[in-house]
Amino acid sequence: MISTFPRVQRWSYYQGFWYFPMFLEGLMSAQDHFIPQSTDIFITSCPKTGTTWLKALTFAICTRSFLSGSSASSLLTKMPHDCVPLLEYDFAQNPIKRDRAVPLVSTHVPYSSLPKSVVSSCCKMIYICRDAKDAFVSLWHFIADLQRSKNIEPLSLEEAFELFCSGISSYGPYWDHVLGYWRASLEFPEKILFLTYEEMKKDTASHVKKLAEFMGCSFTLEEEEEGEVQKIISLCSFENLSNLAVSKNGKHRADDSSFAMKNSVFFRKGEIGDWANNLTAEMGARLDDIMEQKLKGSGLKL
Ligand code: A3P
Repeated sequence: MISTFPRVQRWSYYQGFWYFPMFLEGLMSAQDHFIPQSTDIFITSCPKTGTTWLKALTFAICTRSFLSGSSASSLLTKMPHDCVPLLEYDFAQNPIKRDRAVPLVSTHVPYSSLPKSVVSSCCKMIYICRDAKDAFVSLWHFIADLQRSKNIEPLSLEEAFELFCSGISSYGPYWDHVLGYWRASLEFPEKILFLTYEEMKKDTASHVKKLAEFMGCSFTLEEEEEGEVQKIISLCSFENLSNLAVSKNGKHRADDSSFAMKNSVFFRKGEIGDWANNLTAEMGARLDDIMEQKLKGSGLKL
């Protein structure tokens, strides 16, 4: 069926968004079959907007009570992506592999295409997004690295930028992805927490506390006094995670030859504003204009 959908480069068009076919296959399967646990919390994002970091933080927050004394967090030996399964990949492949004690599921699926079972449930969602220029640059490097590792000639930065500006990118149009979750967060603020990478970077501590509160596992005064918030921030920091042996030497989806990738591709720079080292000022201004127009009237400024 997917081969009959409109296609540009490797992306197929479905319900207003663009997907690599294998994620689309997983999404369509999830739309038909996925049933969440009532306690599930969905970590939602467009790719390359801070998902790895948000997965690490939410995983560390909600598993902290399992850790006592010398037990170390799984995050020291497993990638955040292997701690929090991806709806449109892991569930489509092997739903029973899930660790039911961890109530976290991630997805890049746009709000309007989420399985009805998720939208109509009482499950909470946390969405992260990021300046479109940084998201684009991060995405371009990520896909280009993956393609080079498989001897596929990547799109040039300029070609990919043209497509991105016309809405064609993984799970794009980027602005529609952001707006879908933004509007839903305004309608259901108790259910959807909307975050930006930039705000989280600026004040990580207050966001970690906010995340814990939203997830229903606030830090106790005692935990705060014992520096639990800071411990989680340090554990999940770019510096710490990117320097772990599992991040430097490990592979994600190692048993899937077409989608295996080095864990290190998930850690590039972790900075705000790196777009300026990759795009010209004109390209930056053009994408800013597009975002401004698309977000106009929404109350959101990115
Ligand atoms: P850059 O490519 O700009 O460096 P995602 O996790 O959604 O794939 O997003 C990837 C971006 O998040 C990359 O940005 C990556 O470097 C950055 N990142 C990964 N881990 C991070 C962490 N622990 N803290 C902050 N940023 C992180």
